[in-house]
Amino acid sequence: MKHLTDLFPAVAARVKPPVCVALGPPWPAANLAEAVAAPGTVCYQQDLHQATRVRECLAEVGAEAEVVAKPDLWDLEPVFETVLFPAAATADRDLKIDVVEQAYHVLKPGGLLISLSGYERDSQFAKWHKKVFGKCGETPASKAGMAFWSVRGEDQKRRRHEITFHAKLPDGPPMEFASRPGTFSYGRFDNGSRAMVELADVRPGDSVLDLGCGNGAVGCLLGGKVGPAGSVTFVDSNLRAVALAEENAAANGCPNPKFVAATRLEGLPRKGFDVIVANPPYYAKSEITQLFVQGSRELLKPGGRYYIVTKMPTAVVPLIFQTFGDCVVHENRGYAVVTAGVFGPPPLAGGMIPRVR
Ligand SMILES: C[S@@+](CC[C@H](N)C(=O)[O-])C[C@H]1O[C@@H](n2cnc3c(N)ncnc32)[C@H](O)[C@@H]1O
Repeated sequence: MKHLTDLFPAVAARVKPPVCVALGPPWPAANLAEAVAAPGTVCYQQDLHQATRVRECLAEVGAEAEVVAKPDLWDLEPVFETVLFPAAATADRDLKIDVVEQAYHVLKPGGLLISLSGYERDSQFAKWHKKVFGKCGETPASKAGMAFWSVRGEDQKRRRHEITFHAKLPDGPPMEFASRPGTFSYGRFDNGSRAMVELADVRPGDSVLDLGCGNGAVGCLLGGKVGPAGSVTFVDSNLRAVALAEENAAANGCPNPKFVAATRLEGLPRKGFDVIVANPPYYAKSEITQLFVQGSRELLKPGGRYYIVTKMPTAVVPLIFQTFGDCVVHENRGYAVVTAGVFGPPPLAGGMIPRVR
């Protein structure tokens, strides 16, 4: 099987340090840093979990590079002679466009963006490069993919890739949310999340945890119900998501918001929440679903209410039973919203489970 890093020899002569390896899956990012083998190499990631994985892969291959996680690539200092962007064929198209745009602003004038595309014949990258950089060189099509390069010119204005969308609860005010590439449900409010917020029993004064908050729409909408005596805490491992949640919470007047960037729920208070809402990433390993279920129990206050939305209740319900002792499943908008509560010591506490209408 061919890998993105197999493209490196075709561009190696063009690579000048210091180099930024922008995003990319952990192994290609670490292998590229190893191939560059130059001081000052930085691997940029948006997600804290991915950043940790890159550090682990670097350690495994014995390569030295600093791993930096930030909401935006252009949050880095513009000190790089080369940005290497390993773009797997499966990577998100909007995020690829965003990286090409932002790479311009972390390069020194005359610096080079080199995108490595996993597509055997890629007809997109040259177009995206030209739009931002003016010109673009490319390698011939190959089994490993294609490489594209462009030189940074004069300073130019930053163009932020962002889509705003609107959402509201049946009994709440309309709200507007900014979303950006690389975060969940870019440009729209997810139907699963909508199904969950419609059913969640949230009361004035409640402290709510939006677990895996993405752009924060779920927490903001529920924030409309808790009033000034309540609060909403937003947590995500993706720093761009946390930054968006912060902006969206401020724009929508979310009461007493708090923001936590974490991969293992670290920094969240035990028995700190009346309500936890979670829409876990099902494409990811079930480890994260487990974390979002098992980790939640000790974060809920006694009598607290837990909601998780899924398309795969048969996989999630046993986990909820093990953790909370009981649960109720509601169908809404083609999703299962599973709800449980904390009514005694785990596991199999039994007792009353809150019924949502
Ligand atoms: C399916 S999305 C839901 C996003 C948001 N609640 C919504 O409805 O738009 C799941 C979110 O969980 C986040 N996530 C994944 N692993 C995580 C972890 N270990 N800790 C915290 N958040 C995580 C992802 O970054 C993503 O934003």
